[in-house]
Amino acid sequence: MRTALYPLCIFVVLATSIFSCKQLPQKNNNLNNSRFTGVLADSAMVVSAHPLASKAGVEILKKGGSAIDAAIAVQFALTVVYPRAGNIGGGGFMLIRESDGQFNSLDFREKAPLTSERDMYLDKKGEVVPRLSLDGHLAVGVPGVVSGMVEAHKKYGKLDWATLLEPAIVLAAKGHMVSEKEVDYMNEHYENFAKFSTETNYFAHPKGNWIAGDTLKQTDLANTLKRIQKEGRDGFYKGKTAQYFLEEMQRGGGIITQKDLDTYQAVWRKPLVGKYKDDYQIICMAPPSSGGIAILQMCEMMEQFPINEWGFQSPKTTHVMIESERRAYADRATHLGDTDFFPVPIEGLLDEAYLAQRAKGINLDKASPSKEVREGKVKGAIKTKSSSMPKESDQTTHFSIVDKWGNAVAQTTTLNSNYGSKVFVGKAGFLLNNEMDDFSAKPGVYNQFGLLGNEANAIEPEKRMLSSMSPTIVEKNGELMMVLGTPGGATIITSVFQNILNVIEFGMSMQESVNAPRFHHQWFPDTVYIEEKALGPETIENLQEMGHRFQIRGSLIERKSIGKVDAILVRPDGKLEGAADIRGEDTALGW
Ligand code: DON
Repeated sequence: MRTALYPLCIFVVLATSIFSCKQLPQKNNNLNNSRFTGVLADSAMVVSAHPLASKAGVEILKKGGSAIDAAIAVQFALTVVYPRAGNIGGGGFMLIRESDGQFNSLDFREKAPLTSERDMYLDKKGEVVPRLSLDGHLAVGVPGVVSGMVEAHKKYGKLDWATLLEPAIVLAAKGHMVSEKEVDYMNEHYENFAKFSTETNYFAHPKGNWIAGDTLKQTDLANTLKRIQKEGRDGFYKGKTAQYFLEEMQRGGGIITQKDLDTYQAVWRKPLVGKYKDDYQIICMAPPSSGGIAILQMCEMMEQFPINEWGFQSPKTTHVMIESERRAYADRATHLGDTDFFPVPIEGLLDEAYLAQRAKGINLDKASPSKEVREGKVKGAIKTKSSSMPKESDQTTHFSIVDKWGNAVAQTTTLNSNYGSKVFVGKAGFLLNNEMDDFSAKPGVYNQFGLLGNEANAIEPEKRMLSSMSPTIVEKNGELMMVLGTPGGATIITSVFQNILNVIEFGMSMQESVNAPRFHHQWFPDTVYIEEKALGPETIENLQEMGHRFQIRGSLIERKSIGKVDAILVRPDGKLEGAADIRGEDTALGW
């Protein structure tokens, strides 16, 4: 069915959120975008990448579900309506702050298959075979989402499991109207779908091109979701779904077996908690996310500089932020990996004295060339070779939720690239990740995000690949203040970092902060990537004189963006401000 209704629906949703916004007084003279608060609500809020997924979350909250229940429903709904990143064939992280101030985090990141090998992406000469870790069946890590959602529900669920699956099943069975952006992405990947899926992939339109407003009905996915609804984890890792999955692996030469599916288990991990100045506490994901450590490192380095006085995106502020990013990413490349396999020196990396010293090494007048910046000498680090990273867009997805009791969830989930490995599980209706590319296939060789890695992130059977996904929660004086996160591969970490500072240091509303143009440096390549309008010509000129190099990212308008931050701020008046990123079709819904 083709209809022109979709653009109208989106307009109504966006218009509602924008026109109900109150305009704030101007605070930063150099903030060059519109000044709105986001959507305001008294009780609860869901902010996600798609209006129908946010609606699914709200539906669950209104039935008396907790933020965790809503997160589970949003995860499954995104699988249906946001197939390029929402998923059951991938993995992710869930960070939780309960209303009584307790934290927890769930790691449902994919694992390397049991028969994977360290050099599996190298040819006989020891060179990386281009795209082998990115396209097709060998790129797939063992998926963790269903295990993760089941574990989250076991521990924190208030509503019954079946209720949480219902909105996604209805969306898949009845179909949903595809948006202009989704159409662009699906049409762009038509050939890849044909090339890497061995069964008919319904994301490739049978008559050629999708048109915005077309209805995408996913009957096979609805049936898979019904099996998960009925049987929980067994509905995915065993029985018919597993059979279809393994048949697909065999047809395409993949290496995941029933044993991999049987042994996959999501794990609860202690979140990392760091203080920022006297009043703030930042709660983030521990490894295999690299984001938590890097964000805490960069914030700690910022404590050494009066950036509030220097101002938002002023030359001095931007310089020290870039320099701290450079140093944190140098540490990332050498020291970070899956702690179940590699002794990551977390304490040493977060040691205040170490970070004060690292910040002291920043020359306030000059950029430090990346080739002269190495990983730091950190207490507890074992000796490995040092490493020496970017392109990407929005193939991952993040959502933030606060319920009426004050429980908060920040959840980021991914297939890695858009539509993952492009491998579609025939008869089961879902796509598989290409997360194996997040491992370091060979020391010193960039992955798709231009990231470098080493021993710490080498491939080993059952190991989790290092991630940049950074679901984050901020407290002020012991109370919930901010819930945030974003897609964007390597740029996730710097986008979250900038949004924390935008609100705390530069007094922005959550929406102003999310709208603000971003910049990104990741040690290698030695380049500052900027969104159009970031920094301003004078600041850029100033920074160029100091030795920084700049590049505007991407070539298509929508892909010039860095990240897509979906966040919630608890304002001093107690209201929740939901900020959906204007860079996508993201939507904040609250009441
Ligand atoms: O876990 C990671 O760091 C990556 N697989 C995330 C990929 C991503 O954010 C892609 N979106 N731009």
